[in-house]
Amino acid sequence: SIGSTLGVHMEPTAAFPQPRTCPYRPPFGYAELTEQAPLHRVELHDGKLGWLVTRHTEARALLSDSRLSADRTNPNFPLISARGAAVRSQPPAFIGMDEPEHGHYRRMTIPDFTAKRINGLRPRIEEIATQAADQLNAAGSPADLVVNYAVPIPSLVICEILGVPYSDHEFFEDASRRLMRAADEHEVAAPRAELLAYLDSLIDTALQRPMPGLIGRLAGDQLTRGELSRELLIGIALLLLVAGHETTASMITLGTVILLEHPDRLAELRADRGVAPDLVEELLRYASVADTAGARVATADIDIAGQRIRAGEGVLIPNGPANFDPALFPDPDEFDIRRGSRNHNAFGYGVHQCLGQNLARLELQIALPLLFERFPTLRLETPASQLRPARADTIQSIDELIVAW
Ligand code: HEM
Repeated sequence: SIGSTLGVHMEPTAAFPQPRTCPYRPPFGYAELTEQAPLHRVELHDGKLGWLVTRHTEARALLSDSRLSADRTNPNFPLISARGAAVRSQPPAFIGMDEPEHGHYRRMTIPDFTAKRINGLRPRIEEIATQAADQLNAAGSPADLVVNYAVPIPSLVICEILGVPYSDHEFFEDASRRLMRAADEHEVAAPRAELLAYLDSLIDTALQRPMPGLIGRLAGDQLTRGELSRELLIGIALLLLVAGHETTASMITLGTVILLEHPDRLAELRADRGVAPDLVEELLRYASVADTAGARVATADIDIAGQRIRAGEGVLIPNGPANFDPALFPDPDEFDIRRGSRNHNAFGYGVHQCLGQNLARLELQIALPLLFERFPTLRLETPASQLRPARADTIQSIDELIVAW
């Protein structure tokens, strides 16, 4: 067996990833694994074995362990789906790098994502969310919340940060959706080629005349000075464009469903908008939309929780099980905005912790209260139990949410 060739004596106890049956919370199968042990042998879609980490303490220890690598070009990097193989041939970006390169390139983008810079965007994000609410209202009840509200807000915001013309939003939203929903490496090819060509020509424009935003700044400074290759700039721009709107859009959509399914909690928000920050943290924990994002490969043997992870083995550190670990979040299935959820792992942990977390938090703190203020009678047209998770692997979502008011 594969296990014995690796010198591993334990047989796999589960498959990974597990199916998400309820679109707005992580797979139910995690609970038993978390209770049993912090580490498990799992079998991946391609038959390879890996380690699955199901408790918060071990997840944080491993996510901050420099013996685990995020390098997707490593042939042993664990792939969670057939689509995943495409990341090997993707232009590089710092999400797939280790120190010191990772920090070197991540730092080039930091000025646009500091807490101060993001807080300064508050009035503009409020304006954008108000326009989106107008768009939803104009669409008329019933309407799709995803295309009329959840996607436009983060999409327009990330466009302005990057300097991507929002007039192109239909193109890149569609291409990014096809990229994230592709069944395999083959289906990834077309949308990825379209996005790369688009970003490449945007960089040409930025080199001809000053362009506002992060892409223009990196093109004018680091690219021109030779500190950044064009391929890497394209890779970083692609990462920010896709991560910048898909995740937050999904949180607005699923957050709306969770609130409508928990009318008592929604009433708490209506009574006091000041609960918005705590509410958003609990929503991030509960939905765990980037559940399967934490994949790594060991570059040295690591002894943890009575097990030995061997050099070359894949390690899956999803945030769903950590976010539902009863040791930290008692009665984890309860959606409770007063529990104090800030220690969730929804944005990851360690050096790769989400670059856009301040931005995502602010967008959610604005978009969700505003939605329920503008549409006080908002309701789901389809019962939540009938909503189907989108075909996605790293970012969990639903493709359409018809709401009425
Ligand atoms: C990394 C989740 C929004 C940009 C991550 C990681 C997670 C995550 C779990 C860690 C991946 C890993 O460990 O390999 C989320 C969630 C979001 C969100 C749940 C929304 C609610 C955003 C936004 C941006 C963004 C708005 C836009 C700029 C990034 C980048 C990384 C990252 C660039 C890689 C950081 C690095 O490798 O240093 N995100 N994200 N994310 N996220 Fe987010």
